[in-house]
Amino acid sequence: METESAEEKKLWRKKKKNITTEVTPFVREVNLAPIQKLGGYEFYEKVLKSPKYIVAPMVEQSELAYRMLCRKYGAQLCYTPMLHSPQYADIDVYRKKFFTTCPEDRPLIAQFCGNDPSVLLRAAKQIEDYCDAVDINLGCPQRIARRGYYGSFLMDNLPLVYELVRTLHENLRVPVFCKIRVFPEYEKTLEYAKGLEKAGCQMLVVHGRTREMKGIYQGLADLEIVKKLKKELSIPVISNGNIQVFEDIQKCIDDTKVDGVMSAEALLRDPAFFSGKKVDAFQLTFEYLDLCEMYETPLQWIKDHLCKILLEYVMEDLELKDKLIFQSRSLQALRENMLEFQRICKENGGARKIDIVRKVKNYVELDEEALSLFNSS
Ligand SMILES: Cc1cc2nc3c(=O)[nH]c(=O)nc-3n(C[C@H](O)[C@H](O)[C@H](O)COP(=O)(O)O)c2cc1C
Repeated sequence: METESAEEKKLWRKKKKNITTEVTPFVREVNLAPIQKLGGYEFYEKVLKSPKYIVAPMVEQSELAYRMLCRKYGAQLCYTPMLHSPQYADIDVYRKKFFTTCPEDRPLIAQFCGNDPSVLLRAAKQIEDYCDAVDINLGCPQRIARRGYYGSFLMDNLPLVYELVRTLHENLRVPVFCKIRVFPEYEKTLEYAKGLEKAGCQMLVVHGRTREMKGIYQGLADLEIVKKLKKELSIPVISNGNIQVFEDIQKCIDDTKVDGVMSAEALLRDPAFFSGKKVDAFQLTFEYLDLCEMYETPLQWIKDHLCKILLEYVMEDLELKDKLIFQSRSLQALRENMLEFQRICKENGGARKIDIVRKVKNYVELDEEALSLFNSS
């Protein structure tokens, strides 16, 4: 794999120092004609085909291979993982590693974080021919977003947020979308959402949690706020949060009247979640590995996916997880280990999964080389 050159690293360090917290209005080039594009619902219906089942942006997890798997099982629209606009704008190695796509990977929304309108635009310009819209991450509540001054921390500077949206709206050939968290006060959230709409946002994803609702304070998303916002806005509104089982999707749509739902965690556990069918976790594992062979995917991302897809088997067993997944050094090794693991589970037939956990665990305890024992069992 290519490595970042010293020059690129230097450039990025320099850029990082210059991250601005000021509004730096981007001035449109003077003789550019206004860009014609379809508006909110027209775009949602004609280009996106009215998607209801939407794969959330997930850092290192909503990559091409996984998106293709989710599409096979009912996902109607996918988001890329969040891309850092300064790096995407300037660093070729970053672009190649963190954004890959293919003609079948549509409709697709590319998500960026950033706080500088001109940098965000420069990054988005480079991707606009490969996606249907560009989304701004205005919801990330993590410490890293506080440090980088992006995501939900931009809620403290709404003029800057509106400038980011306006700049993309006026200068991109594709629409701009936003993914937000809510303020504790409904009125403030409504003003925020209306401001985004006015600045040119053409679809809004509302994660009905506040910036503070994370980790042990996560709690439930407030779907009442989502419902009220939906009533007030003229652009498509998507609800995110509280989708645990398939039935939650229609219930959320019926209760809030949103246009669709976005899911992250449920899809990580089950990439066939949107199909409403129970698909064997091993089948999904091997289909995913096939896709990873077609679309080069970093090994670590693959391993993280396998741990989640196979969670219902023994994957809460740290020792086994380590031997079968984390110590695998190649896609081929992962595939072999997963075949072995599947064989063990099948041999246990109707046994409860928890019993399989115990049995496999005993094997591991008996011998250092778990896989050779599996073979001789
Ligand atoms: C592994 C992981 C990575 C995530 N990465 C992003 C991201 O890149 N951009 C973003 O806006 N949200 C990100 N999120 C948040 C999700 O998009 C979503 O808003 C959140 O998980 C709530 O949805 P859920 O209840 O369906 O999980 C991430 C969540 C997870 C679990």
